[in-house]
Amino acid sequence: MNAGSGSSGGISVKRSSWSCKKRVRDGVRSNFTPAKKKLSNLPEKHCSPAETNPEEKCCSDDEDLFDGYDSIIGDSSFLAKLEDVEQKAEEDQNVCFDPHPVKNSDKQCCGDELTDSIFTEDFPDASLRDFPSSQLEFQQDVLNPERQDSSLRMGLSTESTSTPDVKHCKPVSAPAESVNNKKPGPRARRSMTDQLKRAMLENAAASSRISKTALQKEAVMSEEISVAMQTIESACKDGDLGPFFGLPSKVKDLIMRLKGIQDLYDWQKVCLDLDSVKQRKNLIYSLPTSGGKTLVAEILIFKELLCRRKDALLILPYVALVQEKVRGLASFGIELDFMVEEYAGSKGRFPPVKRRSSNSLYITTIEKGHSLVNSLIEANRLDNIGLVVVDELHMLGDGSRGAILEMTLAKVLYINKSTQIIGMSATLGNIGDLQSFLRAENYTNDFRPVELKEYVKLRDSIYEVKPKEEECFRFSRLLAFKYSSGMQKMDPDHIIALVTEVIPKQSCLIFCATKKNCENVAGMICKYLHTDFLMHREGEKATLLAELRNSGNGSLCPVLQRTVPFGLAYHHSGLTSDERKLVEEAYSSGVLCLLACTSTLAAGINLPARRVILRSPYVGIDFLKRSQYKQMVGRAGRAGIDSVGESILILQDRDKDMVRKLVSAPMEKCYSNLLHDGSKGLLSLTLSLIGLNVTQSEEQVVDFMSRTLLSVQETQTCQQKSLKELTVESIEILKQKGLIEASSGAAGGASLQVTRIGRATYKGSVDLSYCDVLYRDLSKGLEGLLLNSFLHLVYLVTPYDLVSQCKPDWMIYYTQFSKLSPAEQKMAATLGVPESFVARKAAGQSVRKNVDNLVVNRLYLALVLYSLLRETDLWSVSDRFQMTRGFVQTLLSSSSAFCSCVLHFTEELEEFWAYKALLSELTRRLTYCVQAELIPLMEVSGVMELRAKQLYSAGYKTLAHLANADPNVLVKKVENLFKKQANQIVASAKMLLQEKAEALQEEFDDLLMLPIDLPAE
Ligand SMILES: Nc1ncnc2c1ncn2[C@@H]1O[C@H](COP(=O)(O)OP(=O)(O)OP(=O)(O)O)[C@@H](O)[C@H]1O
Ligand SMILES: [Mg+2]
Repeated sequence: MNAGSGSSGGISVKRSSWSCKKRVRDGVRSNFTPAKKKLSNLPEKHCSPAETNPEEKCCSDDEDLFDGYDSIIGDSSFLAKLEDVEQKAEEDQNVCFDPHPVKNSDKQCCGDELTDSIFTEDFPDASLRDFPSSQLEFQQDVLNPERQDSSLRMGLSTESTSTPDVKHCKPVSAPAESVNNKKPGPRARRSMTDQLKRAMLENAAASSRISKTALQKEAVMSEEISVAMQTIESACKDGDLGPFFGLPSKVKDLIMRLKGIQDLYDWQKVCLDLDSVKQRKNLIYSLPTSGGKTLVAEILIFKELLCRRKDALLILPYVALVQEKVRGLASFGIELDFMVEEYAGSKGRFPPVKRRSSNSLYITTIEKGHSLVNSLIEANRLDNIGLVVVDELHMLGDGSRGAILEMTLAKVLYINKSTQIIGMSATLGNIGDLQSFLRAENYTNDFRPVELKEYVKLRDSIYEVKPKEEECFRFSRLLAFKYSSGMQKMDPDHIIALVTEVIPKQSCLIFCATKKNCENVAGMICKYLHTDFLMHREGEKATLLAELRNSGNGSLCPVLQRTVPFGLAYHHSGLTSDERKLVEEAYSSGVLCLLACTSTLAAGINLPARRVILRSPYVGIDFLKRSQYKQMVGRAGRAGIDSVGESILILQDRDKDMVRKLVSAPMEKCYSNLLHDGSKGLLSLTLSLIGLNVTQSEEQVVDFMSRTLLSVQETQTCQQKSLKELTVESIEILKQKGLIEASSGAAGGASLQVTRIGRATYKGSVDLSYCDVLYRDLSKGLEGLLLNSFLHLVYLVTPYDLVSQCKPDWMIYYTQFSKLSPAEQKMAATLGVPESFVARKAAGQSVRKNVDNLVVNRLYLALVLYSLLRETDLWSVSDRFQMTRGFVQTLLSSSSAFCSCVLHFTEELEEFWAYKALLSELTRRLTYCVQAELIPLMEVSGVMELRAKQLYSAGYKTLAHLANADPNVLVKKVENLFKKQANQIVASAKMLLQEKAEALQEEFDDLLMLPIDLPAE
């Protein structure tokens, strides 16, 4: 329930946006935290970067490597800031009233039968199915403002507040008018600045009597709101707001229209009807891959947003998954009146904007989810989150990311007992442990919509996997193939024979151990494919190639150039995200019939196949884990398309026994990672608990830790020391590092607080091993910051932990170094990398001089980023530095994320005030390293550079153009854009526009708030 409006069962609450109310400044942080501890306390020596497996890192470039807080405080003056807000609001206003971008809107509006009521039973005819009714309503509202007031919102909040709903596009009128005059305000509204001045004059002139009246009004309103809340709560408790698992039947219709799902699977119905679900107990449910777990979670999210009027948090493991989900759920948000907010990469505000008129679904990566929860704790708003859903709950066992997930969940459990937690997974070996940690019920089912048959191939025979039988493998058939001797040599594992049994009519995924192997396998197969393959969907493949070429600004990967005409491609982190997206889309639509990919695709986007082949039982040089195997084979069998899915693991004699274990062993257990990598998780959890005031003494920290997964698994994971000892030890380490300090508390015991650096570290989500070196680098930077180029700043935000993944090519280093300006070279020398050093290295001479390799390698990466910022051409930069374009892109996205971390780090330390404006701009530039005009389009979830270029040249130049676009026109104007994608782009743009407009309105309302403690006469 929002604070500003609400109604249920006839109760309607309306309030003026500028009524006298308590000034709440949640989340507003000072940039000038007083110093508490001298910097000299910091140890000078820094830890070396975490040892990482380069292969693994490169494969995980979809992940958020860093995250951070976004400041909400501008540095402009009060009125200047207001002017800014006003201008932005004006722009959005103009957006709403621009009738031009959408053609034929009249005609379409007439065709739409849907109303805002969620109780509608009408279903649009097939021709309209792809067309979100909200699009039509949106246009109708613009053209017919009278209709705005008649809209019933969800049967729950029938009156809107002063916050304009973009969907309804009311002109922003003066707050008083919005209460007294229900007609839409005049188009030429009063300037916000004027309103503010007027409001301030009125406030100043107002006697305390007015304040008291306003206070009374406030009290009455609060009362009404709480009655409305209770009514809604009891409506939920007593049953529901509708026939579809407590939801209105419109939700069911939308699931059918937007997802094509007609009916729920039996297990989904059973799960949603569980007593534990109805009683909002925490729940872990576990089903095989493709079992349909997502839908259950989504229905529970809708219930939380619509029935309980609380916000929900959905945590997903990868940026690409977050983007996909934001795109998929934006249409639901528009139809059902909730916000969908993306928290991935450098997107997302901390704390989130408070929304009065609607609830929010935050879709986040693991890292961003943690920062979001921290910011809500700090703003005392965590109880707004009614539900936390974690997809792929087994990620708890995944190194440092697992530790972050555990911290997030432990904090929610500790602080807000009424928040429900739901976790799902297909690969959990020790649900019991997780149940104890989350205090959750469990639901398990082995349903799979399409039967999965697992096979292994040994020499020329195929065996069915029968884990319960003694041998594990039962002979199934001999593989029929006629190979020439040359072919036998090239393809000793008979991959061509295996794939040609299914392609091109059906699809096939080949999981390979390394990236290079993916490219080789794809290339090798098409060498021997019949030329008939070239004719299959020839035109679409040509378009795909053209698009791939466009995405590379004219460059095209030679391997893809060779394989795509045959319907084959490779897919791994060496591709740019544009390339990956094009390949994925072409595969989904059947234009490509085979992908040779690394294990990233197993956990990433949902791309099932009729047949899945595992090229070998290895990932890199490691033998497959049971859970990895399950995730990979689980891609076989497309629901609604295949009657059966098959997986074939190619194995050699030497691997036979290991594979026998692999297919029959129970799923691996998922262990806490708080002690992973030198107890980094435990340390940073302790720091943030103290910083957020969740715990203020050693006893409280120990008590908190006793409720973690680590504590549940103490006997297995804490070998030498007890968890209590480890906790006490971590407090000591933090003290020694100068990140926390103790003072004597009220009851005589020591009270713990964070120091300035400690606060900056946890606020910036800076790795504890780098916080001191970061501080030192930034301080040194201030002594001679070079500002006539980006190089110095870029160097300061080049992520420390990527440095170990790159070895400079000294010739390239020297060439690039010599192109730097004299000032840049001087700056490099001051950092500790003189030209003479690079020159000697390039000449292959030995260097006696003692240099810091961390600095040298970091500067090399900074040169890559610097080139990218100047040219914005990924291909030419990766070519120049002889790096894969995927790695260069990872470097870019990691740097933009780290830049926002450094920004938040510096915001907490007044000596770094000068960095603030510089790093804000740099974050933006690194996030959207494209031509400036494409940035507004790329803000829309999942719109990447290529698509943004296409949209731009088709005339869709701003967010407003996209939000008002007609998907039918969009597909005609933009080449190779499917209707579903067009619908999603429009819905996401609409959602983003609405989000921005509401944020401005909230800011506007806040500015006009009468301070409750205004001195009276
Ligand atoms: N009731 C249903 N009827 C038809 N299709 C469904 C139904 N529920 C889900 N699906 C579809 O099944 C496919 C797999 O569902 P989903 O992605 O939820 O699987 P999952 O259980 O999360 O698997 P994984 O563990 O691989 O992530 C999706 O395409 C989804 O739209
Ligand atoms: Mg899933």
